[in-house]
Amino acid sequence: MTIQLGVTFAGLRFENPFLLASAPPTESDSNILRAFDAGWGGVVTKTIGLHPVVNVVGPRTKFLRALADSPHLSMNKAGAGTALHSSWNWELISNKTLDWWVPRLGRIKQAHPSKMLVASIMAGSGSDAELRHWQTLARACQDEGVDALELNLSCPHMDRKDMGSNIGKDQELISVVAQVVKEVARVPVWAKLTPSTTDIVVEARGAFLGGADVVTSSNTFPSLPLIDPETLEFEVNVDGLVSSGGLGGPAILPQSLAKMSQLTQAFPDKAFSGIGGIGEFAHALNYFLLGCGTVQVCTAAMLDHAVGPNVIAQLLTDMRATMERHGWATLEDFRGLRRQAVVPHSQIRRPDAESYRGGYDLDESTSEPSPAAHVRG
Ligand SMILES: Cc1cc2nc3c(=O)[nH]c(=O)nc-3n(C[C@H](O)[C@H](O)[C@H](O)COP(=O)(O)O)c2cc1C
Repeated sequence: MTIQLGVTFAGLRFENPFLLASAPPTESDSNILRAFDAGWGGVVTKTIGLHPVVNVVGPRTKFLRALADSPHLSMNKAGAGTALHSSWNWELISNKTLDWWVPRLGRIKQAHPSKMLVASIMAGSGSDAELRHWQTLARACQDEGVDALELNLSCPHMDRKDMGSNIGKDQELISVVAQVVKEVARVPVWAKLTPSTTDIVVEARGAFLGGADVVTSSNTFPSLPLIDPETLEFEVNVDGLVSSGGLGGPAILPQSLAKMSQLTQAFPDKAFSGIGGIGEFAHALNYFLLGCGTVQVCTAAMLDHAVGPNVIAQLLTDMRATMERHGWATLEDFRGLRRQAVVPHSQIRRPDAESYRGGYDLDESTSEPSPAAHVRG
């Protein structure tokens, strides 16, 4: 049996379904070129914007680690006897300008025409002028030959109410932004949503109604670093102060999967790119079995020579071995296989089938559990 790692995803041909997510691993042309040489099927650039970006003093990302045989978690311990729990970051979008990016996007694409280059873009959305910024960014990137645009509707640490995850919580604004970009886009448009919302299906519907071709999830989860019990300072701080940042890495894998399961069940025929906590193929497999057509990696790659050469090599080896073991020829043979295994709680078997009705009383008139017992949640 010939095994094919290549996938067609929302109209694009990827030589494998693994991308570097928009983040430090894709912050420069040199990183992206190294990533392609290492074997990644695609990259999403660090988010490109038009407004000035100045990052905080000091580290923008730190890694929280667990100590073996102890409940202790700390960013200040690494090495033997520790295991990665999560990344925490408060980095803003790219601090390089659109003018810096534009010629480089063209050169990357020329050097690697068969690799998929996705440009992540972000602008405000509070006025018509702001909305036109999305179009300026989209046009400039696609004119350089990028294969798709990913709309950053999910950065969790923006002060502006009309940017990042603040837009990502507003289904109408998501629709408007997607529509505005679609007006000028000649390439597929991906919408990267925030997990920080009550029902991500609502925002995804907004994105699809606006014309988005793909929904990407998850960006990092809003969070704080821990307070050191000795110094009483946050483990990341500037002058004793901290601000909400984003949690990534292993800690968010189960949470991101829960979001993705909601999305792929609600829109079984739509295209999804899964992100969150992927460090090995077994993790990626979860996203594929829930219905994703590609996956993206950030934290694991940051910790592996900045662009994840060993991570991608192992992903490819393990994907091939897993497919061989299960007798799968392409990703389509297993994509979505477990999508329907996530059901309302009331549908999970009990020792006594009559004893539980989803928390509802027995309806005396019909002697049937109320239909509301099957409502999600
Ligand atoms: C330091 C850092 C910077 C990031 N910058 C961006 C960004 O500019 N745009 C974006 O869409 N996501 C950004 N992300 C989010 C990642 O793309 C990804 O969604 C998140 O880290 C979860 O994946 P992971 O668990 O593999 O890290 C950033 C993440 C980190 C850790």
